[in-house]
Amino acid sequence: MVEMMKRLENKIAVVTGSAAGIGNAIATVFAEHGAHVVIADVDGAAAEAAAAAIVAAGQQATPALVDVSRGQDVSALFRMLKARFGRADVIVNNAGINVRADFRHLTDEEWVRIREVNLDGVVRIARDGFELLKASGQGSLVNVASIMGHRGLRQLAAYSATKGAVAALTRALAVEYAPFNIRVNTLSPGFVETALTDRVLRNPAIRKALLDQTPMRRFGTAEDIARAALFFASDDSAFVTGAELCVDGGMAAGL
Ligand SMILES: NC(=O)c1ccc[n+]([C@@H]2O[C@H](COP(=O)([O-])OP(=O)(O)OC[C@H]3O[C@@H](n4cnc5c(N)ncnc54)[C@H](O)[C@@H]3O)[C@@H](O)[C@H]2O)c1
Repeated sequence: MVEMMKRLENKIAVVTGSAAGIGNAIATVFAEHGAHVVIADVDGAAAEAAAAAIVAAGQQATPALVDVSRGQDVSALFRMLKARFGRADVIVNNAGINVRADFRHLTDEEWVRIREVNLDGVVRIARDGFELLKASGQGSLVNVASIMGHRGLRQLAAYSATKGAVAALTRALAVEYAPFNIRVNTLSPGFVETALTDRVLRNPAIRKALLDQTPMRRFGTAEDIARAALFFASDDSAFVTGAELCVDGGMAAGL
């Protein structure tokens, strides 16, 4: 049997929102590929359980209680990383939330909350993580947006706005960080069945409508997204920066 080629051997990788869902699949795949993964999640108990599962499989992981919308949590995360590793080779901005509301009824509080996590959190981590990514010598920052940054869906306007902004921020940062050998890319999933999409995908009519608009006629798996994150994190994408990869069964391309 041919041994799997490990693509992230000796790398330090931080994945936000990785106690569950897509982030957890990304952390798991990164650990399988040799990375020491920091499971940074607002759910501390789930982060500890996720890290313990990776360690039990013989790989390396450290849990960290981090709410990406809180500046002091992000500062504490980077202080810990600096003291323990002195660098971060890969950072995946994956933590994200959704608030479904008809736009005309969206409250200020709902808008601020979704922006604080989906956009301000990404801004803060991309900015405060710069020194550690630079110290890597070949840093990779991966920002998880969504094909909802390209397409509209009822009750998702606020979510779409934050995700479109993440993709724009990513392109700008790719230019600004390139002289420091830090690559910055956007990973935009289509629909994946996780806690985030559970309610909407349980509705048979919405489910059918979304599948009808997905050329590959299936939802993605968290593993599908993790494989693409591995590409951006590893040297396989050494000359790729400022790119957006839609992992969506063709949904962004058309019907
Ligand atoms: N599931 C999809 O269909 C889909 C599609 C496109 C994009 N995305 C994006 O992928 C990312 C992951 O989504 P998911 O479906 O796995 O979600 P999920 O709800 O299943 O998991 C999100 C994880 O992030 C954590 N989290 C939430 N708020 C946080 C915060 N403030 N700080 C730190 N951690 C926090 C949660 O505790 C959880 O572990 C999100 O950015 C989401 O917008 C998901």
